[in-house]
Amino acid sequence: MARLAVAACFLLAVAAMSSYIVHVAAAHAPRSSLSRPRAYGSFLRDQLPTQLQDPAPVVHYSYRHAATGFAARLTGRQAAHLETQPSVLAIVPDVMLQLHTTMTTSFLRLLASSGLIPAADGATDVVIGVIDTGIYPQNRASFAAATKHLPRQLRLHTVSKSPLDNIGHGTHTASTAAGSAATDAAFYKYGKGTAVGVAPGARIASYKACWQTGCASSDVLAAFDEAIADGVDVISISVGDNRKPQKFHKDSVAVGALRAIRKGIVVSASAGNTGPAESTVTNVAPWLLTTGASTINCRFPDTVVLGNGETFTGTSLYAGSPVRATEIPLVYGGNVGSRFCEAGKLNSTMVAAKIVLCDYGINGGVAKGEAVKLAGGAGAILAGVKDFGEFAYANPHMFPRTAITFASTEKIMKYLSTDASPVTTVLFHGTVVGRIPTSPRIPSFSSRGPNRRAPEILKPDVIAPGVNILAAWTGESSPTGLGTDRRRVQYNIISGTSMSCPHVSGVAALLRQARPDWSPAAIKSALMTTAYVLDNAGNVIKDMSTGKASTPFARGSGHVDRNRPLDLGLVYDADADDYVSFLCALGYTADQIAVFTDDDPETDCLTHTGSAGDFNYPAFSSVFNPNMDNVTQRRTMRNVGCNFRATYTANITSPAGVRVTVKPRKLRFDARQRRRDYEITFFTPQGAGNLTDKYTFGSIVWSDGERSVTSPIAVTWPWPAPQVVAM
Ligand SMILES: *[C@@H]1O[C@H](CO)[C@@H](O)[C@H](O)[C@H]1NC(C)=O
Ligand SMILES: *[C@@H]1O[C@H](CO)[C@@H](O)[C@H](O)[C@H]1NC(C)=O
Ligand SMILES: *[C@@H]1O[C@H](CO)[C@@H](O)[C@H](O)[C@H]1NC(C)=O
Ligand SMILES: *[C@@H]1O[C@H](CO)[C@@H](O)[C@H](O)[C@H]1NC(C)=O
Repeated sequence: MARLAVAACFLLAVAAMSSYIVHVAAAHAPRSSLSRPRAYGSFLRDQLPTQLQDPAPVVHYSYRHAATGFAARLTGRQAAHLETQPSVLAIVPDVMLQLHTTMTTSFLRLLASSGLIPAADGATDVVIGVIDTGIYPQNRASFAAATKHLPRQLRLHTVSKSPLDNIGHGTHTASTAAGSAATDAAFYKYGKGTAVGVAPGARIASYKACWQTGCASSDVLAAFDEAIADGVDVISISVGDNRKPQKFHKDSVAVGALRAIRKGIVVSASAGNTGPAESTVTNVAPWLLTTGASTINCRFPDTVVLGNGETFTGTSLYAGSPVRATEIPLVYGGNVGSRFCEAGKLNSTMVAAKIVLCDYGINGGVAKGEAVKLAGGAGAILAGVKDFGEFAYANPHMFPRTAITFASTEKIMKYLSTDASPVTTVLFHGTVVGRIPTSPRIPSFSSRGPNRRAPEILKPDVIAPGVNILAAWTGESSPTGLGTDRRRVQYNIISGTSMSCPHVSGVAALLRQARPDWSPAAIKSALMTTAYVLDNAGNVIKDMSTGKASTPFARGSGHVDRNRPLDLGLVYDADADDYVSFLCALGYTADQIAVFTDDDPETDCLTHTGSAGDFNYPAFSSVFNPNMDNVTQRRTMRNVGCNFRATYTANITSPAGVRVTVKPRKLRFDARQRRRDYEITFFTPQGAGNLTDKYTFGSIVWSDGERSVTSPIAVTWPWPAPQVVAM
């Protein structure tokens, strides 16, 4: 007790400290490579006046590759003082980033029957750096080739500080990118087959930056620092900031990624799970390869049969003992204590031996099932929400539980309100692979454009499988993440753009192996311009939130195609200087740009011309202001095809209400002329004021008759003004 009181007095006396990332001008960074944290400690003593020396700052990281600077615990006054120093470029509060899995709110996906599953070879010289929750290679067939070389820390089980994955997310993403072929993979009876990563020959370097609470931005930057120092070829990061996108120099992923890209490393990131609302996409810097989610042709359906004979299809990963096909009384959570089925709020007298319909929201789907189980219920049905349209979440639960769409929910609510003694039967069907419903489709959760930080850069870039994905899991945690769940599994089925990102990382690794001289921007261009937009029925990939055709704000350039990027003619390339021009166009200061470049002398933006829309992106997003009737953007194409001599012709599908011109319409390449420029102009002949849609979409295809290079076009009207976060 006494000691506690002393501690409390001490806390009152000192100012609160919190963690900051401090970007230091390269000219002021400690020269010695020895003991950088100590060198930054003395840097701080030099920078802080005597009255601010106490409490002493604690340096916990120094950065050399992903940034120049350090992370330290500082008081607010110390941080404010440092920010005014010429040696400090920027000071950024440490924030928590989130894993982009939907597990906690209920989600999943599958590899075995995905079209992305490659032949079991390739990319053996390529290293994919996975920044995540660590990895669990022990006794996992997906990592069989690697376990011979396990580092010591992994074998010693010091779980919290070692890179051993005690959550499962990092094991899942790593095996999706580069897991070896594992036969007889399944999550119980679901998704049975051979699980294999997209680039099974590639090696994995795992960087643990994420814990149960999330991923501190200072840890993420440290992970980039190590990955760059290690010389990985691809970085895969299924993590993001769920807030509005920050300015790029304050965003650890953007900073680490641009430094990595300047070293030739491809950086692949997840788009986020906050759809279907617009402007929800995260990881929006043009140098990132940003991936949204798609479905695959494998489902886990069940049938909900009501007492009145109506039937609905649900989705479930119920893996417990078989449920008898008998009628069971059905109640709505809202009538038995808690519409969201929150633990402890359900009345067990009213819930006992019944199936409970639970509303979406507040707690995750797994927690709802758990609450119903604790209250003595026989099963749970998770209601759909309007915005999610045709989408329903599956969960790897032991308890009989299904998730249904919004339309089904409305009908069941009607039945509940009109029938005196409502009953239901739920029939679980296991895994169904088929062409109906069509695939791929875009799940409602996948985050959408437009890009709030740089509206001229269309995001997400591509989509890849992210719903109900089977991949390796940790032995240190249950498939649901619940402490009460005692199960340990080799594989788990989960969902999220977290699962989409490593698919694209794997394809990027294959392409890196095949085209070692291509820049990260060229690899990205190849993946985007060869992506497909039609589903297996030949229609435009559908958006599950609307049931209608998706737009480029949901699908980006389309679904990544593992087979086409090699057989490609032209790329939209970009180098370090292009990224500087882009930052200049957005109004970044020389200090802010130096966070990415270490430039000394300073960048002079007067020598960098062009608008943000002129950045050599493989997609077009044009934003009209109220007083404009045309927008022009410039591009450069590089011929990387085996035909030196080739003539490409533009074929444009104009967005509704917009006239599009391209100059020139033909690009002629030969052995000496491997690069060609063109200009694209978007006109609104009748004035944009005539138009009612906020956005319209089209595409441009450059083709030489054999190969084609396709880019989506998005046009944003000024009404209402696009929501751009203040700089
Ligand atoms: C639970 O429901 C029963 C039956 O309707 C009722 O008698 C009881 O008071 C309820 N318990 C609580 C805590 O509300
Ligand atoms: C395009 O817009 C600019 C002003 O933004 C205007 O000066 C120019 O005449 C327009 N060009 C055409 C061809 O309409
Ligand atoms: C241009 O694209 C449209 C739509 O895809 C297609 O119908 C047309 O044949 C194409 N034109 C040429 C010249 O390739
Ligand atoms: C503009 O409005 C007029 C009158 O309603 C209509 O006839 C015309 O087609 C519209 N133009 C465009 C580009 O939508």
